[in-house]
Amino acid sequence: MKVLVTGGSGFIGSHVVDRLRARGIEVRVFDMVLPTYRKDVEFYQGSLLDFDAFRMSLTGIDVVYHLAAVADVNDVVAEPAYAEAINVRGTFNVLEAVRRTPNVKRVIYGSTTWVYSETLEQAVDEQTPLLAPHHLYTATKMASEYYCRSYATMYGLKYTILRYGIPYGPRARYGAVVPIFVTKALRGEPLTIAGDGLQFRKFVYVEDLAEGNVLALKSVAENKTYNLDGIEKVTIRQIAETVKGLVGGNVEIKYTEGRKGDFGGKEVSSALARRELGWEPSVRFEEGVRRYLDWYKSRELASEAAWGKVDEMLRGEFAR
Ligand SMILES: NC(=O)c1ccc[n+]([C@@H]2O[C@H](COP(=O)([O-])OP(=O)(O)OC[C@H]3O[C@@H](n4cnc5c(N)ncnc54)[C@H](O)[C@@H]3O)[C@@H](O)[C@H]2O)c1
Repeated sequence: MKVLVTGGSGFIGSHVVDRLRARGIEVRVFDMVLPTYRKDVEFYQGSLLDFDAFRMSLTGIDVVYHLAAVADVNDVVAEPAYAEAINVRGTFNVLEAVRRTPNVKRVIYGSTTWVYSETLEQAVDEQTPLLAPHHLYTATKMASEYYCRSYATMYGLKYTILRYGIPYGPRARYGAVVPIFVTKALRGEPLTIAGDGLQFRKFVYVEDLAEGNVLALKSVAENKTYNLDGIEKVTIRQIAETVKGLVGGNVEIKYTEGRKGDFGGKEVSSALARRELGWEPSVRFEEGVRRYLDWYKSRELASEAAWGKVDEMLRGEFAR
């Protein structure tokens, strides 16, 4: 089997690639950016907006994981037209290209549990009726989900929608709460919490999430939607305390006014994924943060070592 991962150079996508490779599955990454975490995967550089390029990248592919997107909500707010193009037209291009490529048997789409942000219910599962989203990011993800379903109904294209909880772990980009807290704590800056810090999240460790993506290859997942959320409820205050505990030293925790549009947190059930896919997230929050911290420090050390080499080289250069 050979799969193509759009967004395979990104945070979640790169872990999905790792897990697929660990199972011996052949992988091709389609991304605008070079994959930096491993060199042993085929890479097709291009944009989802280039329909022909994307279509050509599907040669010999059995399943497409579609994860490429403008995934940072701050980027969506800053550049809504660009985000709409990538997140909505991009998904449309993926589905349309797959429709015209008979060798591709399924599209596995990376959605978000933010689709539940306006539901009337506090406890939600895949059967919970969704309401129109407030946030543009969520609107683009919901539109993509609907496109998957329309292509299934109208053209018989097979899909699986995975609604990811909030991921954390190595390679996370700076904009998310765990990376921000870790970076600040290591710099000795205060950790700022919007509101009282009692709003909870159920974070999902990124390698657990990646495992859920691999399990979605099972045929039972055809034309189904699954939540992949974490198991532990963690308040923002607990995150700050965990980071403070792991980093050590005198880290201050500061409280400011609540942020507008902050998703208060729903009880998202992942029971269906557990039952049908056998998905069981296993990494506890503190352990996940510890692994993130180790990765962060090793990256910093590697970067310092690289700059050290440049210094050395330039010193030699100027001495001559
Ligand atoms: N990170 C989260 O908090 C989160 C939560 C739920 C769902 N998701 C979804 O999971 C998916 C992956 O998110 P992530 O956090 O890994 O994001 P990321 O930003 O780390 O990775 C996205 C990747 O998509 C690529 N990309 C962007 N535009 C492209 C284009 N036009 N053509 C080809 N490649 C393009 C980027 O280069 C990047 O490598 C996204 O669909 C996102 O909406 C993310």
